[in-house]
Amino acid sequence: MTQADYPFPEGFLWGTATSAYQVEGGGDTNDWYDLNQQGCTWNEALAGRADEWWSGRAEEDIQRMAELKTTTHRMSIAWDRIEPKPDQWDEVAIARYRAILTAMRAAGIRPMITLHHFTNPLWLTEFGCWQTPATVDRFDRYVAKAVESFGDLCDLWCTINEPSVYGLYNLIRGKNLMTGGDPRAYFRVIYYLLKGHARAYATIHRLQPDAEVGIAQNMVAWHPSNPRNWFDVLAKRVMARVFSGMMLEALQTGRWRPLIGRRDTIPELVDTLDWIGLNYYQRYNVRFAPFRSPGTFGLVWEPRPDHPHGPPHWGEFYPQGLIENLERLRRRFDVPILITENGIPCGDDALREKFLVDHLYALWQAIQDGMPIKGYYFWSLIDNFEWHEGYSPDYRFGLYDVDFDSQKRTLRDSGKLYRGIIEAGGLTRGMVEEHA
Ligand code: FCB
Repeated sequence: MTQADYPFPEGFLWGTATSAYQVEGGGDTNDWYDLNQQGCTWNEALAGRADEWWSGRAEEDIQRMAELKTTTHRMSIAWDRIEPKPDQWDEVAIARYRAILTAMRAAGIRPMITLHHFTNPLWLTEFGCWQTPATVDRFDRYVAKAVESFGDLCDLWCTINEPSVYGLYNLIRGKNLMTGGDPRAYFRVIYYLLKGHARAYATIHRLQPDAEVGIAQNMVAWHPSNPRNWFDVLAKRVMARVFSGMMLEALQTGRWRPLIGRRDTIPELVDTLDWIGLNYYQRYNVRFAPFRSPGTFGLVWEPRPDHPHGPPHWGEFYPQGLIENLERLRRRFDVPILITENGIPCGDDALREKFLVDHLYALWQAIQDGMPIKGYYFWSLIDNFEWHEGYSPDYRFGLYDVDFDSQKRTLRDSGKLYRGIIEAGGLTRGMVEEHA
């Protein structure tokens, strides 16, 4: 077997990632379904059948994880399926998740469960969703139920996926569903999500002392469009702070200092990470342009035209940003780091192999520099429902292509390459020469 010239450490976790609503299909009791009904997606697409994991296809895709030689998979469970009405637990849904987790373990794949990946039970909206402290209590009860139900099958837990993206999605396009389009609500939602994380951390450890618990934070490589323009530099600083710095500071010190709204201390947040998850996708260059962009506080995010970039609004493909953000994490936390998401929207697979090699090479360098990186979860195993972008052909992230009419999966060249990397235990010189 080919051996890596740029080897990753023994026991490194090689994985893929998905989330419940994006792959399961048929979930109509959550708030994203409701948002979909309002036509907030590309081509007004509804998630519909998605990848049909709920109705039975998860098991065949688990075989695909094994074919790729991955050793772990990050999935999420849907709160609305487990608790369809307040304080009513659905044992049939719990049994379905148990079947999926059991199949994963039988295939040699260690599951990571994300407890909150953007969706909420629709009934939570009536209780004020993530804008009220009562939701922290309700979330905690759901978390306890999840650990009691799945703790024998899973010991790796991610409490919350991307608090800031959740906040932004709702703010920019969700109109009124969870934040009412009020910028203060962005900060309020994140505040309660962080409190939810702290409670979940304590509850999981109470029920499962050996569990490894973390959170997935999205970090963009924010750069000023013109580094000599003072306004652009300031705009970049504001974005980095609002999008991730503010959360990381709270997780590290318990100090909550939002840009708008009440400051607070959340002492229970300190020391609630057994690992920290980084979701990294792109660079955005920030320009202060108040006349062009009144709706986003005068900020424009744009790719540099001479750099490879994704579809409009997606930003720039920029592997160095992975290192920049890892360094940021390292300055604040002394815990293992997992790359909980990294990937590229690209229906024709043209850029994905290069993306993979460039980012893994950057990761390899970071490990050489002593960064405690324990695993990498590629987003995503298969094409799936991409939130507001729905099934747009520009927003396909899978190592497997999915034909959503026939549900046929086809392994992409990037998938073959990922398998080769895992088999070799890292990158070979040939891979780097061919793709990087
Ligand atoms: C992340 C989300 C994930 C997926 C990728 C492309 O922000 O966590 O669900 O949509 O982006």
